[in-house]
Amino acid sequence: MGGELKKILRGHLAPEELAILVQSYDVVGDIAIIVIPDGLLGKKGLIAGAILNLHRHIKVVARRAGVYDGEFRTLPLEIIGGEDRKETLHRENGVRLLVNPEAVYYSVRSGNERQRIAALVQPGERVLVFFSGIGPYPLVIGRIQPQCRVIGIEKSPIAHAYAVKNLLYNRKITNVRLYEGDVRAVAPQLNMTFDRVVMPLPKSAEAFLHSALDSLQCQGRLHFYDMQEKGGFAASIEKVEEICRQRGRSLVSATVTVCGHCTPRLYRICVDAVID
Ligand SMILES: C[S@@+](CC[C@H](N)C(=O)[O-])C[C@H]1O[C@@H](n2cnc3c(N)ncnc32)[C@H](O)[C@@H]1O
Repeated sequence: MGGELKKILRGHLAPEELAILVQSYDVVGDIAIIVIPDGLLGKKGLIAGAILNLHRHIKVVARRAGVYDGEFRTLPLEIIGGEDRKETLHRENGVRLLVNPEAVYYSVRSGNERQRIAALVQPGERVLVFFSGIGPYPLVIGRIQPQCRVIGIEKSPIAHAYAVKNLLYNRKITNVRLYEGDVRAVAPQLNMTFDRVVMPLPKSAEAFLHSALDSLQCQGRLHFYDMQEKGGFAASIEKVEEICRQRGRSLVSATVTVCGHCTPRLYRICVDAVID
């Protein structure tokens, strides 16, 4: 969202301030999350007011006060306008998600990708979602393909607690189970293999490929997320191939889907692989 912001701030900001205004922002439920450059921090209240005036359904405006960081990939936020709260109810792909976007990782920008993966799942499949966070992948898959079984594993106790609440909020979804813990410890305890394993942790999923392959049955589908520059997509396929070699498995086929950008030159990609 955002094209209108510059228009209504014209006359309130100097031309050099308008030039650095970041016009787009994410909307999670009724919370707008915006990036404010250092040169505009003195005007953050004015910018928040403009967003609140533009969209009646937005009740809170927060700014990114840092970057996604740490094992749980959390993002510090500062409220700069509207109500003083960070929890909201967001709707994505027909699923209701309660979330505090500061306490847990959740990106509205991955909604289309979750829809893409869910549409691939066939009736009768067993699907394992590593790094399930507040539950968007398991719930969207479980809703779109009611005749599959989905298990999600998440290490952050706060994110897992939200996922459990979200499963309760979406009462019609009855094919999802959620576990708290490290995927490396929890996946082997499930004592089962899966038709599909999804690995949405683009910065370090590589370190978990061994565990994913151990949970994946022959001819299973793996969705491995990675960050890559345009010319480097083959290197992400190589990472999967190398772990297949180490595990005595073989890569039958692999395609790459671009799911988004991290920086203008760095892409968030998904390697969709079939593994024997
Ligand atoms: C990039 S987020 C993705 C969350 C969710 N799948 C989504 O799309 O919103 C990665 C998640 O992995 C979790 N995580 C990190 N290391 C983990 C581990 N070893 N085992 C289980 N979960 C882990 C983090 O807490 C975080 O919630």
